[in-house]
Amino acid sequence: MLPSKDGTPVRSNSCNCHLSGSHCQSALNLKKEDAPITTPNAQRLSPTAKAEALTALEPLVADLMERHIGERRLWFPNDFLPASEELSEEDERVRAELPENARGLPDSVRVSLALNLLTEEGLPHFHRLIAVYMGNDNAWSRWNFLWTAEEDRHGCALHDYVRDARLFDMGAFEKLQYQYLEAGFDPEWHNDPYQLLAYTSLQERATQVAHANTGKIAGKYEPRIQRILAHIAGDEARHHRFYRDAFKGLLEIDSTGAMQSALKVMPRLAMPGHNIAGYEDMAEVVRRSGIYGPRDYRKVVSDCLESWGIADLVPTDAAGREAQDKMMALPDRLDRLSGIQEKRTKPRAYAFDFLYRRDIAFS
Ligand SMILES: [Fe+2]
Ligand SMILES: [Fe+2]
Repeated sequence: MLPSKDGTPVRSNSCNCHLSGSHCQSALNLKKEDAPITTPNAQRLSPTAKAEALTALEPLVADLMERHIGERRLWFPNDFLPASEELSEEDERVRAELPENARGLPDSVRVSLALNLLTEEGLPHFHRLIAVYMGNDNAWSRWNFLWTAEEDRHGCALHDYVRDARLFDMGAFEKLQYQYLEAGFDPEWHNDPYQLLAYTSLQERATQVAHANTGKIAGKYEPRIQRILAHIAGDEARHHRFYRDAFKGLLEIDSTGAMQSALKVMPRLAMPGHNIAGYEDMAEVVRRSGIYGPRDYRKVVSDCLESWGIADLVPTDAAGREAQDKMMALPDRLDRLSGIQEKRTKPRAYAFDFLYRRDIAFS
């Protein structure tokens, strides 16, 4: 939503966003003070200089990767739902009983699992973006390979679970997965690798919270999925630390440029998949169920601001001070947007093909 010249809201016909309708500012008919943040298009450093900044960060990236490897405990999908040719009696029993044990999972939780799984299925999009933005045969690409291998298990583990627990109309769900990948994902980052680093810092933390919250609720009905989601959330937390601290390194090299780039992605976290049929409705169900929504995203943003020490930076130029002020204003702005959205929420029922179009009603 863009304000008109006189400040009255004007509905844009072409919103191309986001994590969820929850963060869609275009859909919220905003007043002037909450209209999309603008930052100068002329970035502080040229693309070449930004590429050099990434090269300068490679020793830090190598250190962060070493820290990551030292802290992780590698796990595999088969640890949770064994599916080998030879299985113990206990494993056979668990597999046989899983669909019945998971039968009580509410549809709203199933929607959250679907959204989380779809997000994980976006891995090819992210692998490609990191490869394109961060280059080959360097510390970043070595991280990309490791990170991709770790992320791949998330989609596998969740897919195994929803299939073996028989939570969905799997044919309908697989069509969504296919559509999601075929649609592609090309965020408007304008060849700016700083935006990728800001984005991944936020995205990892957001998915950590979404997985953990889904697991807490799902675990009341079926404990195995909570264990799977807790392991995935643990990975996301470590990934977040990697990207967050890499971005912090960037702030030390080019604080104004880093903040300007962060401002391009932070007000609206543009998630792939927003153009899938029913995607916005899925995000709304998750929000209205209290699993994950804009209030959680606001916390993600606040945590990043704090970790990056944005409040304590002392920019040496006006552009840096302006970017710092805008970043520090983000939590309040996100609160206002959340409040607007909550106020406008009306009773409604949602239905999805992968849940046989059963009504999920909210008052
Ligand atoms: Fe993941
Ligand atoms: Fe991750």
